[in-house]
Amino acid sequence: MPSTQTVSWKTYAEKYDMLLAYNPYYQQLQQEVMQEVKKWKIQPGDQIADIGAGTGNYSLTIAEHFPAATVFHIDNDEGMNAVAAGKKNLAPLPNHRILSSGIEEVNLEVGALRALVSIHALYTFPNPQAALEKMYAWLEPGGQAVLVDAGRIVNVWNWQLALGSHLIRRYGLRKALEIFREGKEVSRQNAYIRNLQKDGTFWTHSHKEFCEAVEKAGFEIQASRTTFRGISDLVVVRKER
Ligand SMILES: C[S@@+](CC[C@H](N)C(=O)[O-])C[C@H]1O[C@@H](n2cnc3c(N)ncnc32)[C@H](O)[C@@H]1O
Repeated sequence: MPSTQTVSWKTYAEKYDMLLAYNPYYQQLQQEVMQEVKKWKIQPGDQIADIGAGTGNYSLTIAEHFPAATVFHIDNDEGMNAVAAGKKNLAPLPNHRILSSGIEEVNLEVGALRALVSIHALYTFPNPQAALEKMYAWLEPGGQAVLVDAGRIVNVWNWQLALGSHLIRRYGLRKALEIFREGKEVSRQNAYIRNLQKDGTFWTHSHKEFCEAVEKAGFEIQASRTTFRGISDLVVVRKER
């Protein structure tokens, strides 16, 4: 039975970047992914995509890093995309293009992309396996990708404790409480995500199952590990030449 409480990405969007500002695990993951992305060999005119790109924390950084390539920021939530567009206006990036559509509706040409990332988004898609297959088709032969997905159900208390003690150490109790109050919406949306994972609306998987799904789509896995305190899986992949 699908949950009646559904995630509102639009509401989440307003506070989403508190993760980037205050959550050390989100910050670490972003650095981990960017370390891999920076190894890509990108030529002028190449096309790159970030699928389920949210507020642009990856797509904008990638566009900045590869100014001669075009970066497609693909997301179907107008709230998330509005936040990304706002950040883009602060630092104009002519090579960053927001496509306001779900992956199901986007039709890029086969082999159109030199590289792609999809971070913490696959598990929310209606058909993650079909999405992986579409991503594979979009890559050119030899193309590279970094895929990260949250496969395990979050233990909310364990996360609040880890985050709470980090914030208190870093900012002191008063500021930590303020941050928690301001981030109430983030916690609420994460609770909805947890419910949707529990009732099977959102995809949950082990590390092995994630790797199997990625390989089934055709990708060759070059490196794989768990990340984000063990709830997520990260793979560095390639499409064979
Ligand atoms: C947890 S957020 C991750 C955002 C970003 N990748 C990050 O790590 O900061 C998941 C994103 O997937 C987007 N999303 C959900 N379903 C989608 C779909 N069918 N096609 C494209 N994006 C989708 C949501 O709007 C949301 O912005």
